Amino acid sequence: MKYKRILLKLSGEALMGTRQYGIDPVRLAEYAEDIKQITDLGIEVAIVIGGGNIFRGIAGASNGMDRVQGDHMGMLATIINGLALQSALEDANIPTRLQSAIKMNEIAEPFIRRKAMRHLEKGRVVIFGGGTGNPYFTTDSAAVLRAIEIEADVILKGTRVDGIYTSDPEKNADATRYESITFNDVLKKGLKVMDTTAFTLSQENKLPIIVFDMNTRGNLLKVISGENIGTTVNI
Ligand code: GTP
Repeated sequence: MKYKRILLKLSGEALMGTRQYGIDPVRLAEYAEDIKQITDLGIEVAIVIGGGNIFRGIAGASNGMDRVQGDHMGMLATIINGLALQSALEDANIPTRLQSAIKMNEIAEPFIRRKAMRHLEKGRVVIFGGGTGNPYFTTDSAAVLRAIEIEADVILKGTRVDGIYTSDPEKNADATRYESITFNDVLKKGLKVMDTTAFTLSQENKLPIIVFDMNTRGNLLKVISGENIGTTVNI
């Protein structure tokens, strides 16, 4: 296998499946099965999940809500998703620990880097909830930060598009997918991978990002096996 320890970034919206909001249990179970395919191979898996299926801080701010207040609500949304994902993973017999960036000891253990790494070494999936614990940072930033902290080999960004395209494939029929691209080229061409804060943090720490379609079953295993089904961003 190409990677030993990965950080998987899942979008909150993807958890909606075919629904308009909230969590689709069928989608959750599918994710759990896909994750089990790689934990069964001994891959160490940490997960950061978004909260957009429940609440987006930015959307709150555009409706007149205080931005910090909105971001706090978004952080809590990621904990709800984290609990749901933990439950689905444990239904699939994958030992899982949820760590929160915001202290809420009755619900989740606090984020402790060394403990997270120990869990991973013991074969447990670790879900990091609560984003970075700070407003103005996205869950993509949380994903990159945690990936660097736990010394992950790569960050796998699961999306509904199967990689990075020369232009928006949902608007432009002749857009083509990059198999790999450098951080600098993404910036030069103005392509959208993550927000700039998250993206440059990854670049500065030489942490490769793979963008792939997480909603096609079995893709996670393919990415781990080194198949070129998404786009790899590298130095
Ligand atoms: P090892 O000691 O490495 O075997 O890890 P462990 O997670 O099995 O042991 P620990 O005794 O730390 O945790 C047992 C269970 O309690 C796990 O499900 C943890 O996620 C959970 N847990 C640990 N600390 C906290 C906490 O502060 N709050 C909550 N809610 N759960 C916790």
